[in-house]
Order: sequence, then C-alpha cells, then structure tokens
Amino acid sequence: MCGIVGYIGKKDAVEIVLKGLRKLEYRGYDSAGIAVVCDNLLHTRRSVGKLCNLTENIKKNPISSNIAIGHTRWATHGKPSENNAHPHTDATNSIVIVHNGIIENYADLKNQLKENLKEFKSQTDTEVIAHLIKKYYKNDLFDAVKRSLREIKGSYALAVICKDDPDTIICARQDAPLIIGIGQEENFIASDIPALLSYTKNMTFLEDGDIAKITKDKIIVVDKDGNEQNRQVKTIHWDPILAEKAGYKHFMLKEIFEQPRTIEDTLRGRVYPNEGKIYVEEVKLSKEDIKNISNIYVVACGTSYHAGLVSKIFFENFAKISTEVDIASEFRYRSPILNEKTLVIVISQSGETADTLAALRLAKSKNCQTLAVCNVVGSSISRETNHVVYTHCGVEIGVASTKAFTGQLAALYILALDFASKKESLPKEDIKKYLQELWEIPVKIGEFLKNVLEINKIAKLFDRKKDFLYLGRHINYPVALEGALKLKELSYIHAEGYAAGEMKHGPIALIDEAMPIVVVATDSTVYAKIISNIEEAKARGATIIAIASSNNNEISTKSEHVIYVPKTDEFVSPLMSVVPLQLLAYYISVNLGCDVDQPRNLAKSVTVE
Ligand code: M6R
Repeated sequence: MCGIVGYIGKKDAVEIVLKGLRKLEYRGYDSAGIAVVCDNLLHTRRSVGKLCNLTENIKKNPISSNIAIGHTRWATHGKPSENNAHPHTDATNSIVIVHNGIIENYADLKNQLKENLKEFKSQTDTEVIAHLIKKYYKNDLFDAVKRSLREIKGSYALAVICKDDPDTIICARQDAPLIIGIGQEENFIASDIPALLSYTKNMTFLEDGDIAKITKDKIIVVDKDGNEQNRQVKTIHWDPILAEKAGYKHFMLKEIFEQPRTIEDTLRGRVYPNEGKIYVEEVKLSKEDIKNISNIYVVACGTSYHAGLVSKIFFENFAKISTEVDIASEFRYRSPILNEKTLVIVISQSGETADTLAALRLAKSKNCQTLAVCNVVGSSISRETNHVVYTHCGVEIGVASTKAFTGQLAALYILALDFASKKESLPKEDIKKYLQELWEIPVKIGEFLKNVLEINKIAKLFDRKKDFLYLGRHINYPVALEGALKLKELSYIHAEGYAAGEMKHGPIALIDEAMPIVVVATDSTVYAKIISNIEEAKARGATIIAIASSNNNEISTKSEHVIYVPKTDEFVSPLMSVVPLQLLAYYISVNLGCDVDQPRNLAKSVTVE
C-alpha cells in the first residue's frame, strides 16, 4: 500500500520520479505528491486522486531538480485530500518525508511535540515523523533520521530529504518494502521493482531496521544496531516491457493473455513430463524431511488463498499429507497447532502482504519448516522463508490478480507431485500422466483465448445485474470463489461463491428469476452432482451460465449460456476454468465503465494489517 520513488543524480528527477510512480500506481491512487530541493528551498506538489492530476498540477506549476522523492497514496489515516497527501513537511518547511506503512504511536509522539501541535497540517500518522526529524536535525540528516526512528513504533518504508542537504536522500524500512536501484552517478529508491526497471537492473533490497544514506555516487546502509552493512546487489532480469500495456486496453487483459507463457515459464526447467521427473531445486527438503511432514498449513490472503484451497486437493491426493488452508489474518491470531513436523506454506504474489508475512513469522517462531510460493524476487516473504518456489509470472500490475493465480496453481501442483514422488505416494505412471496434463495446459489456455469475444457477448447480457452466484464443487469450488472475487472487486457487483452442495443449506433462498448463476461444470468426478445443483437452481428460476468442457453435448440443454473450455484432467482444471471467469469479470467491468486496473478502495500490495 502506497508507493514511494526517489531519485538523486544528474537527470531530471521530477520526470524520473513521476515515471516511477506511474509504475507503482497499483499500490494506491487516493492522492499523489512529489518534493524536490531547488535553490536550497523545498518545493512540493500534491494532488488528490490519480497521478495524472499531479502531472497536470506540475505542468501548471513546474518544478525541477536533480533530487526528488514522490508518493502515491492508499489512505490509512485521514481521508484522501491534498492536506493528507504525501510528502509531508515539518513546520519550517525544511524536512520533507514520504512514507508507506503505519506509525502506531503517532498520537503519543504528537503529544510529545506539543509546542508544534498547532503546526500539524494533516490528519496522517506520517506527518509526525517530519516534525520529529526536525527536532533532532543538527546539520546531519542521517543522524536525525536514526534518532527519530528509535522513537517510532510501527511499519514504514520512508524517504526523507532536507532543504539544507540537497545531495542526500535518507531512507529506511521496517515491515514495508524498499529497494535501492544502483546507477552510474545516480541512484534510485522505490517500493517495488517495476518503478526502476527502465533505469537499472541492479537493486539492493533493504532489510528490516535498515537506514540508508544515498547520494548520487554512494550508498551507506546501517542496520538496526547502527552497524554498517554491505547488502547484496541483485540483478533483476524482468523485461521492462512487461510493465507496459503492449497494445492491450488494460494491464489486466494483457495479464490474462500472458497466462500460457507465464505458466510455461513457471514449469520450464522444473517439469520433464516424458521422463516423469520434477526438479524443484529451490526446495532443500530431503526425502526424509518430506516423509517426516505430519501436516501442512497453507496460509494466504485473497486470490492467493483461493490458490491455497485448490492446493489442499493436490497435497492430499498426490502427497497424501493432511492439509489445512487458512486466511492469514485469521491464522495469525488463532492458536494453530504447529510444531517442527508441520510444513507451513505461504502463498503471496507480492511477497509483502502484511498478514501473510506475520503468519510466516508465527510459523517460524514455532519451529515449523516454512515454504513460500511467491512471485517477487527479493520480497520480504521470499527472504524470510526457509524455502521459496518462485512463480515466474513477471510483474503483475492489474490490481486484480490473474496470471499470479494460475502461476501459483502450477507451482503448487508440481510441488505436491514432487512430494508424492519423494514419498512414493503415487505410482510413477500416475506422476507422469499428471505432469503431462499440466504440460498441455498453456496450449489449451492459448486455444481458448482465441475466442474471448464470445464471453463479452454474455457479459453484455448481465452487466446490469445486482447480484451473482458462483458455484463449484471439489477442486473447482475455490475457482467459484475466485470468480466471485474477480467480479466484485472489478465491477462492484455483489457476488458470492459457494460450494454447490451447500446451496440447500441456506443460500438457495437467494435464488429468483433475477439471479444469474455461474456454474463451473467442467468434466470431473462430481460432474453429475453439479448437474443436479444446476437443476435445483433452474427449478427456482435462475439463469445459468455454465463453464463446461468442450466435449459436453448435454449441458446446453440445462443452461441458458455455456462457455466451453478445452477438456482437461480434473486436477489441472482450475487453471483452465478460472480463465473464462477472469474474462467475464473483466468485460462486465469494462462495459460498466469501471476502472479495471485500479478498482476503487484497493491496492495491489497490502502491506498494512
Ligand atoms: O500479494 P499477495 O498474493 O499476498 O496478495 C494477496 C491479496 O491481496 C491478493 O491476492 C488480492 O486478493 C488480489 N489482488 C485480488 O485480485
């Protein structure tokens, strides 16, 4: 939540920071702002709403400098307004700060700064840091920030500049991501990789407690104890083109269409279907370790949680390991029974989700083995876990997750088969067959994506509906949940996902003529059961939109609308059946004129609780 960008060098810092913020707008878009030092004065520009408003503001009131910090906000404390927009300054307009996170003791700190109280201009938790730094500032910004952070409780990624020190950016992180991009006679900071990809591939990921002093030629990092640290520089191989729309109207549509490639990338080098071999080399668990796992907890949020629900079926059916799936914000406040024989798998696209990170830390504190399925190299979760399996999806910019979900499913599927192979819980022939089924999925999704306009025709018939139900069973029940999540987050239409067998226990009362029901009815062991559920819904007047396998000749007699997908084996079917649901939500949202890539109230990376 919230994006930070900073630049120091010889170039036009305003342009670089604005361009970087554009890449981070998915992190929040309630307001945006920028601060520069010019002629020993601070200049800030701030605008409510999207970044384009700030860009317009700067066109009318130009500023320029070789040093700048910028911010795109997802509001936590204080409603979206110009006063609450970052950057925030102290009372003398000497120190300016941008911040992502939450300062938990901001009210206490504010009281301690009583003499400045009347000088506070915003309702944010952030502003107090600027006043605190000013209090400690004695011609050494690095020192003033260090002293201030000792008093701060909470989470932060922050960047500070000072009018009297126009050659320095100070930044720090605690429980919120911050990256330093290393250039030639220039350096950068950002909350996330895409903001920097056009400028450098060499990046350092700050660790919790780190504070850094950055000039155009030098970076000094000290840890929480004040000891200088040589943090590793990583080379990031993501293609900057991935962070562009490449001719698609929206990032989300582009990312849906990327799925054949991103699944292939996630499998490449790991899966050899002809030989029935799997190599997940990043996981350093021996055969013995895997045999010793008594149970698995899969913990995640949102779409990643839905991938976790699907993976329960993989781990139980393939590896024969009892698996529970939990929402991270629940798991962390329960008292889950964990011990050294429990494997805790956390799933996170961003690797920065606060609740998932806290769940991981809880698991580690109980001596569990931990494994992350993650998309972002160098993210907090990927660094803190014992083992990490990366989904090679590239940057996902659309706030609604699509390619990350199918990448997670692919990674979890091969992980479960790898465990099965090491535990010998499945015959080799079965492992080979399941690998082959997965291997064919990218081509099948590619085939399906040739006819997406059919889905738009259906979307146009239903885009004025107020409520939708999504039904699925067994491995496609989480897909129904995911379909409903996509629709509500993108189009603001109320949608619920249910296990179809649960309908009779209450939700069936919701059904009337006005209710469209999307049913995942692809070929499976529970196909006959789901057909009965369709009959029950139709008997109450519902309109059915079925997702069915291409060989199904019967379903059109039972459903008003059918979206056919290539036939797959049941275990890989979620990778296929979710794609029409992503597209249905996409088209309904476009038809309603909603902001597809940046739906209201949301942010891509939820780094606060
Ligand atoms: O980065 P993460 O996978 O940890 O994010 C978890 C959720 O916030 C995320 O999956 C969210 O539900 C999706 N963006 C919804 O499409």
